[in-house]
Amino acid sequence: MSNVEISAIGAYLPPLVVTNDKISEFVETNDEWIVQRTGVSERRISEGENTSDIATKAAKIALERAGVNPEDLDLIIVATISPDMFIPSVACIVQSNLNADNAACFDISVACSGFVYALEIANGLMQSMKYKNALIIGAEVLSKVTDWTDRSTCILFGDGAGAAVLKQSKTKGIIKSYLRADGKKGNALTIGGADIDTPFSKEKILQDKYIKMNGREILRFAVPAIAEAVTEVLKDTNISLDEIKYIVPHQANYRIIKLAAEKLKLNEDKFYLNLDKVANTSSATVPIALNEMYEKGLLNKGDKLILVAFGGGLTYAASVIEW
Ligand code: UT7
Repeated sequence: MSNVEISAIGAYLPPLVVTNDKISEFVETNDEWIVQRTGVSERRISEGENTSDIATKAAKIALERAGVNPEDLDLIIVATISPDMFIPSVACIVQSNLNADNAACFDISVACSGFVYALEIANGLMQSMKYKNALIIGAEVLSKVTDWTDRSTCILFGDGAGAAVLKQSKTKGIIKSYLRADGKKGNALTIGGADIDTPFSKEKILQDKYIKMNGREILRFAVPAIAEAVTEVLKDTNISLDEIKYIVPHQANYRIIKLAAEKLKLNEDKFYLNLDKVANTSSATVPIALNEMYEKGLLNKGDKLILVAFGGGLTYAASVIEW
């Protein structure tokens, strides 16, 4: 069995910065409450770009950095909960935008854990299909599924995309992943789909098209989920937490990360955080954070990292990788 590594990373954030003060102009909230409860100061919001547009922009940066031509991609996976439409998948639209005509393409719906799931799915397919190059993307335009009259959710989310090019490698690359879900808790975080209202339906089932969330339940779920995933992913790897340079978590809420660090008896500084400026972009938070770390020169060859995420489904996941 060969290894698969992240060869390059890229990200794209829409240019419009929306501050907490801006949001307080249309819902009853304020900067102090939002910063204290979440750690978020501002987020980027799309002014019309759709998920496939921002996914394509992030992908182009990652491909350029990896030195991979789009026609040499064997696989494109997009993790998203805010696709342009049900079909075609965002991955197929990105394929067309890039002229990546030789790639197998599909989306996965794993909410905020999507990028970590995509990493391991691509790893597995690259081994079984002997693929040389894969592109995985976490991309979300959450602003289009946000209820901008609901102050308990509209303050939390942002738009953005992050992409990684994966290659077969001689280094360790993706060392191990841990993928879990707890579907029984799924109602804590939902975005409705199509209505059931046909000539045959016994009763109409009308769906809410916006994010609905029980924030408290997600808080309770997230902290032990992060601790479990970080602990389990290291089992049988002969790698200790001390050897991990950074934990790159899903960026949902500063309080969640602080509590998870306490539970794992780790210094908070081990967790890379950028949620103050980017907010929660669901499947895109982990690759956007990785991209920022790369651009700041924080990632060196051989560094060991844990990527860890949790979210809708409910799902949670971690991967330990060597950069
Ligand atoms: O990717 C996964 C996505 N989800 C998450 O990560 C969510 C995790 N959960 C959270 O981040 C937190 O639960 C929230 C930040 C969403 C909320 O914080 P909380 O400490 O759980 O607050 P709460 O929902 O218990 O609300 C406390 C109070 C309530 O008022 P009363 O009932 O005490 O009078 C809310 O109505 O704060 C009020 N409130 C607000 N006040 C000002 C709720 N939202 C706001 C707001 N501004 N934006």
